Amino acid sequence: MSNAFASGIAAVDRYLGAGFETVRGMSSRFSATICGHLMRRQSEMGIRGDVAEIGTFEGRFFIAMGLALAEGEHAYGFDLFTWPDDQVMDRLLANAARCGLADGRFTPRPFDTGKLSLPDFRGLTGRRPLRFIHIDGDHSPEALAHDLELAHATLHPQGLLCLDDMLHPGYPFLVVTVHAYLKRHADMRLMCVIDREDIVAAPKFLICRADAVRLYENDLMETFRDQHFVLGGDAMGHHCVVLTPNPRIADV
Ligand SMILES: C[S@@+](CC[C@H](N)C(=O)[O-])C[C@H]1O[C@@H](n2cnc3c(N)ncnc32)[C@H](O)[C@@H]1O
Repeated sequence: MSNAFASGIAAVDRYLGAGFETVRGMSSRFSATICGHLMRRQSEMGIRGDVAEIGTFEGRFFIAMGLALAEGEHAYGFDLFTWPDDQVMDRLLANAARCGLADGRFTPRPFDTGKLSLPDFRGLTGRRPLRFIHIDGDHSPEALAHDLELAHATLHPQGLLCLDDMLHPGYPFLVVTVHAYLKRHADMRLMCVIDREDIVAAPKFLICRADAVRLYENDLMETFRDQHFVLGGDAMGHHCVVLTPNPRIADV
C-alpha cells in the first residue's frame, strides 16, 4: 500500500500506526483508514453530528471513530459487554485512555440493541442525527434488520451507515438482510464496498442516501486511487465504488 494511504486526521493516523493492532478486535486497519478519511471529509463539508457503533467490543474500530470526531461531537458505543467475559467494558475504557480518546468524548452503552425501541435508541444517542454509524453487533438476520432500522431512523441525511462482516464466509447470507433493507428503503444506496484484509478483518459496506452518493464516491476513487478496483460493483442496478488492499483485474 502506498505511503499516502492515511485518513488525514493526525490523531487517527497515529492510532492506526501504533495503537490499532494492540486493541483486540475484528475490524481491519484498511477499513478504519478509509472510514477515518470519510469522517474527515464530512467535517470539511460541514456535516456535523455524533457517531455510534453497535458492537463496540474492546474498541478497536470505535477508538478510530472517536478520534475522528470534530469539536462538540460525541461517540456512543453499544455492546452487551459480556462476551467473552464481564471485563470487556473495563478493557474498552483502558484501551481508549491508552490510545488518547478522552473519556468526555464517548459513552459506552451496555444494552442489547435487539431490545431497544427507536425512542430508546434516540434517547441513548443524544437525540441528534448521527453522521456515522457502524453496525457490528449480533449477526443474525433478525438482529441486523432491527439494528438497520434503528440506524436508518437516526442517520443524518448526509450520513453514512457502515456495516461490518458483509460477504464474510462465516455469514454467507447476511447480505440478504441488507438487500431487503435496501429494497424497503429505495432512497438508500450501497455507495462503497471496502474489501477484506483477511477472514477476521472482513469487508464492510458503506450505505447512504442516493442524493448523498455524489458527496463521497468521486472523492473515494480519487483519494484511494491505489486501492480502487476500477470495475466497481454492481449494486442493485447502481454502480458502487470498490476499494481493496491489492486491486487487480483477472488476466483474460
Ligand atoms: C465482532 S464483535 C465487534 C468488533 C468490533 N466492532 C471491532 O471492530 O473490533 C461483535 C460485538 O457485538 C456484540 N453484540 C452481540 N450481540 C449484541 C446485541 N444484541 N446488542 C449489542 N451488542 C451485541 C458482542 O458482544 C461483540 O462484542
